[in-house]
Amino acid sequence: MTSSLGVIGFGRMAQAIVFPLLKQKLFSPKEIFAVVGQQTSIESLIDKVPKDMQVVSSIDAKSSEAWDAPIQLLAVKPQQFDLVAKQASRCLSINQKNKPILVSLLAGITLERLQKAFPQHHCVRTVPNTPSLVGAGLTGITWGKNFSTEQRLAVRNLFEPVSEVFELKEDYLDAFLALTSSGPAYVAVIVEALADGAVAAGLPRKMALDLANRTLSGTALLLKEKGLHPGELKDMVASPGGTTITALRHLEKAGVRSSLIEAVVAAANHSKKLG
Ligand SMILES: NC(=O)c1ccc[n+]([C@@H]2O[C@H](COP(=O)([O-])OP(=O)(O)OC[C@H]3O[C@@H](n4cnc5c(N)ncnc54)[C@H](OP(=O)(O)O)[C@@H]3O)[C@@H](O)[C@H]2O)c1
Repeated sequence: MTSSLGVIGFGRMAQAIVFPLLKQKLFSPKEIFAVVGQQTSIESLIDKVPKDMQVVSSIDAKSSEAWDAPIQLLAVKPQQFDLVAKQASRCLSINQKNKPILVSLLAGITLERLQKAFPQHHCVRTVPNTPSLVGAGLTGITWGKNFSTEQRLAVRNLFEPVSEVFELKEDYLDAFLALTSSGPAYVAVIVEALADGAVAAGLPRKMALDLANRTLSGTALLLKEKGLHPGELKDMVASPGGTTITALRHLEKAGVRSSLIEAVVAAANHSKKLG
């Protein structure tokens, strides 16, 4: 039986999309066929993957089934793209009546490169992020040529259950990725550092981490719900001669804002380089 969704590369990002789709019963386990690189990865997935969902390694002859699905989620590392495209060219069957859809999650790999490596596919480039795991993701999409309304809907249906979807021109995707896909890592570092500060100032570790998390989510909600500019919120909190402005002086002296700006630019440039 041909699966509805072939997943080539079933690592962190693909799991953040596929597990919620299974949980919400938008796909049955039998409809998904996933491929990983190493046999050992299958063992580590046993407890997470439903019994009826097939996961095989790329050296298993059955792995070619993933390339028979009408929609194929390509979620290997960008550095593995050329190898996987070569493996795929050996598997791609002439059985396909219609051109399959290749949904790439790969950072940096351009539509032009995708389409060149997969000429028998309709290729679409997407940039998801890991908060998809809790239904709070953001996904950027750039369509390749000749996508029908039904095909667009089929692709959006993979991401909409777990994220807000933005259709963007391809030129924006590297910056989108540098902010939204890499962003959870920057934010995690900030939360951890804030908690370390609170521990240094005397709070127990568990409490410090919990409070740092809540401070972050509460602040994000306040900014969003009140439509505040971040500078406005900062000024609301920093009273003259107070504790906050004393702390902010330290942040400015350490170049925290400039570091964050440069981090986002570096990630965007690296994404471009990968392409
Ligand atoms: N993580 C994020 O937050 C994020 C956000 C946006 C976009 N992305 C993009 O998503 C892609 C995957 O990232 P990730 O973080 O999920 O990486 P990952 O956890 O390392 O997953 C990569 C997956 O590809 C598999 N793989 C390796 N070689 C393969 C082959 N020849 N055939 C089939 N599968 C193979 C790996 O299996 P083994 O482990 O067994 O080798 C693994 O399951 C990347 O291109 C990245 O740019 C990631």
